[in-house]
Amino acid sequence: MLRPTITGWGRCTPESIVTNDDLATVMDTSDEWITTRSGIKERRVSHVENSDMATVAALRALAAAGLEPTDLDYIMVATATPDRFIPAMACHVQAKLGVNAIAASDVNAGCTGFIYGLSLANGLMATGAARRILLIGSERLTPYLDLERRDTAVLFGDGAGAVVLEAAGGEEGLRSINVGANGTLAGSLTVEGAGSSWMEEPMPVRVVMDGREVFRNAVVGMEAAAHKALADAGWAVEDVDLLIPHQANIRIIDATTKRLGIDPDKVVTNIDSYGNTSAASIPLALSEAVDQGRVAPGSKIVLVAFGAGLTWGAATLQWGDRIRPLGTSDVGLPASDRAGIQIMADRSRAWHQ
Ligand code: UT7
Repeated sequence: MLRPTITGWGRCTPESIVTNDDLATVMDTSDEWITTRSGIKERRVSHVENSDMATVAALRALAAAGLEPTDLDYIMVATATPDRFIPAMACHVQAKLGVNAIAASDVNAGCTGFIYGLSLANGLMATGAARRILLIGSERLTPYLDLERRDTAVLFGDGAGAVVLEAAGGEEGLRSINVGANGTLAGSLTVEGAGSSWMEEPMPVRVVMDGREVFRNAVVGMEAAAHKALADAGWAVEDVDLLIPHQANIRIIDATTKRLGIDPDKVVTNIDSYGNTSAASIPLALSEAVDQGRVAPGSKIVLVAFGAGLTWGAATLQWGDRIRPLGTSDVGLPASDRAGIQIMADRSRAWHQ
């Protein structure tokens, strides 16, 4: 049966960095608190639209695969922060890639969006409905952060990662995948103020979260999903070469790694540099891991995530022979004329005036 294989990878992170010390200038927090509670040291803040970051990541992934946008038959964007609610952000990305007619749609499964996208791509390839899919995870979360809510404002950042998936029939590619959700916990991580529920009484648009509830569920949910993915692939824990978990909190990652019994040296983490980039975090970390030489031909990789919904999911995939990009793209974002902390402060202040 044909299944998705990653043949191209790319990422895009905006240039503006906001450190913990920067945040401490606009709210009652400290580098010490943020570092010890979450592992985050800094995050990126976008001055451009989410679809701009997604498009740059996509062009880099396409170059790595040696393909043109016209070679694709599906553009899928995992995001919870699209440019607009309508149309799907994938349509904006399609236009920015300079193509049309190719199928384009979004997937919203919170921070698990990339795994959900992979699961949908798996189905499309298994049925022969698509052979080349561009799967992007891209988030512009910082406009949703209320600087008067220190419990959430310090955690999230902006960025994008993308992969080109091509249908293949050998040993390589996706070996197992599972996704799930518990909608009864929907209120524990949500965005207030945006959506048809809020049309009659406009209010500040912001992320709100019951951090402890999400934390508890994240650890058990990620462990269970990863165990199922391993069992379905017929892999033992010792077979795993690399674990790429969603980057929400270093304590969640450490606890999940410990419960799974995976050697911490095999775990990819970059939360210190980017914070929680939701659906972008796994493709961003994957793309960095390949470029840093952490992925070898035939590497056995586990992806696992947890997020708003509450949702969860895990996948096992065996890397192919090629660990170098076939080409590179020199596209990038335009320069920013404002400091990252200024972008965040201006946006948050606007709601409180
Ligand atoms: O991507 C998936 C979605 N998100 C997650 O997975 C996040 C899951 N949750 C977490 O990562 C953690 O629960 C947090 C990092 C959000 C919070 O860590 P915690 O250890 O659960 O802290 P807490 O919420 O229990 O708060 C402890 C204290 C509180 O003060 P009191 O009540 O003990 O006096 C908070 O008010 O820390 C205070 N606090 C802060 N202090 C300084 C909360 N936020 C901050 C802050 N700076 N930014």
